[in-house]
Amino acid sequence: MSVLIAPSILSADFARLAEEIAMVEGAGADLIHLDVMDAHFVPNLTFGPMIIRAIRSLTELPLNTHLMITDPDTHLDAFMEAGATAIGFHLEAFHEEERARRASAILERLEQAGLERFIAVNPDTPVDWVYPYLDRLDSVLIMTVHPGFGAQTLIADCLEKIPRLKREAERRGLSVAVGVDGGVNLDTAKEVVAAGADMLVAGSAVFHAPDPPAVIHTLRAAVSPV
Ligand code: DX5
Ligand code: ZN
Repeated sequence: MSVLIAPSILSADFARLAEEIAMVEGAGADLIHLDVMDAHFVPNLTFGPMIIRAIRSLTELPLNTHLMITDPDTHLDAFMEAGATAIGFHLEAFHEEERARRASAILERLEQAGLERFIAVNPDTPVDWVYPYLDRLDSVLIMTVHPGFGAQTLIADCLEKIPRLKREAERRGLSVAVGVDGGVNLDTAKEVVAAGADMLVAGSAVFHAPDPPAVIHTLRAAVSPV
């Protein structure tokens, strides 16, 4: 299976969003990664369902929606109705005593709506936090930066979570794809794929480049099996 490439529009020019999305779609991006931030779970504030609805009308690509918000359950319907293809959230958003209940309820609502599901794992969070939910997830998103901002440096120590996660999934006869988010660029992509990643999220490496399509093509070539 080839590795999927998911440009994150966090680093796109929002005054030219339609062109930016058409550009990465034309260059062969597999999906669009949407970073939703609430200035509470993370220090930064980005966009919500309104913008996602607008983006839905701009592209046929799957919309991979990464909720970095404190109350994903409260806002879930709005994100589902906006046209997200996959929705992911952070277990770190919940207090320990309500984590299992809130996470399960979100997964159940997404399952019922037929949406793809993922959980994102912060750099300081042990990967086994997701083990209780593995059979209900399409993928796990391993954060290789502390969420909140684009253009940070990849924390390579986080990559060891990938083989551990894959072993656990295999032991249980499950197939769970692993995405990697944060600091993925032409220098780091090979290492990330060698660790077992199935999807690369790349924001600044694509949108801050002078020639974004060339970056997507080069990324693709760098991570494709020969
Ligand atoms: C970080 C976001 C990432 C971000 C990645 O909080 O979740 O998706 O856009 O940006 P780069 O690729 O620039 O590290
Ligand atoms: Zn993200």
